[in-house]
Amino acid sequence: MSPVEPRKLIIDCDPGIDDAVALAMALFDPRLDVLAVTATAGNVSAEQATANLQAVVTFLDPPRLPRVGVAAADAILSPRPLSVHGSDGLGGLELPRVPLHGGHPSEKVIWETVKAHPREVTILSLGPLTNVSRVLARDPAIAELIGGIVVCGGTSHAAGNATATADFNFFCDSAAARHVVREPVTKTLVPLETTSQVLYEFDLLDRLPREFTRAGTILRPMVAHAFRAQRQFLGSEGIRLHDVVTLVAVTNPELFERETVAADVETTGELTAGMLVVDRRPHRDARPNADLLVNCDAAAVQDCVLRALAAAGEAT
Ligand code: RIB
Ligand code: CA
Repeated sequence: MSPVEPRKLIIDCDPGIDDAVALAMALFDPRLDVLAVTATAGNVSAEQATANLQAVVTFLDPPRLPRVGVAAADAILSPRPLSVHGSDGLGGLELPRVPLHGGHPSEKVIWETVKAHPREVTILSLGPLTNVSRVLARDPAIAELIGGIVVCGGTSHAAGNATATADFNFFCDSAAARHVVREPVTKTLVPLETTSQVLYEFDLLDRLPREFTRAGTILRPMVAHAFRAQRQFLGSEGIRLHDVVTLVAVTNPELFERETVAADVETTGELTAGMLVVDRRPHRDARPNADLLVNCDAAAVQDCVLRALAAAGEAT
C-alpha cells in the first residue's frame, strides 16, 4: 500500500506562544507538508508577528523550510491588555533576529501557494482572519481552489477570551471573520468551548523536549511564561493552548465531534462584535456553511500534542 501523502498546509498565525507551540509541532510532523507560514497582526503588531515567525522557523530549522509571509502593516490591532503572550508575543524569548530578505506579503504567499497546488492545500488559521479575507477579496475565484480552511476562533456558547461574547481572533478583525465564514469554502471552526477542554497543568513543563534540544530551548521558556502570566493576570493555574488543539483537529480529526451549522459573525454590536452566531432554528433561512467542532476527546488530544512535541525534540 502506497504511503499516505503528507497533507499540504499553510499556517497563518500571530505568534503568540500557542501559535509558536503549534508551529513546532507542525514543522516536524511527517503527516504534514507545511508549504508556507504567514504572519498576521493579532497577539502582537504586524512587524512583531513577522519577526517572531521568522525567528521561530529559522531557529527550529525544520527539514522542509516553508515560505514565510510578511504580515500586512496596515492590519488593525485590537489592544490586548491581559495577554499571556508577553509584550514581544513569545514570553520574552530572546531569539536571534534574522532579517527576512525579500519577504513577500502574507496574502500574496497564500494566494501563490494555493494557485500552485489547486484543491490540495488546507489553510490553518491560528490568528485573526485578515490575510485569508484579503486573499478571497483579491481573487474571489481562489475560493474553489482552497482545499479547506480550519479556523481557531469563535465561541458559540462558552465565555469569550477577548470579550464576554467573542474569542480574540474573531474580535480582532470581525469583518474578516464574517467574510471568511460567509465564503463558499469548505471550512471547519474550532471554537473556544472545544479548545478549552484541553487544560494543561504545570507538569506539562516536565514533559516538554529537553533544554538541549532546539525545540526545548524555545518551548520551555515560552510555556513557563504562559503559566506565570495566567496566574498573574487571570489568577488560575492551568493554561490552554487554543492554536495547538486546532492543529490537532487537522492531524487527528477523529478526536473531535462535529456539527454542520449555519454560522455568521457579528461585526457591529457594542457588546457582541466578533461573536460567532450559530443559527440552530429548525426552519432557518440561512443554509449550513461550516463544520463546527463541538467537542473533543481531551485526553487523547493531550496525548497527540505530547507525542508531536517529543518528535520535534528528537528532530532538533
Ligand atoms: O482565541 C484564541 C486565540 O487567542 C489564539 O489564536 C491565541 O493565539 C490567542 O490569541
Ligand atoms: Ca494565535
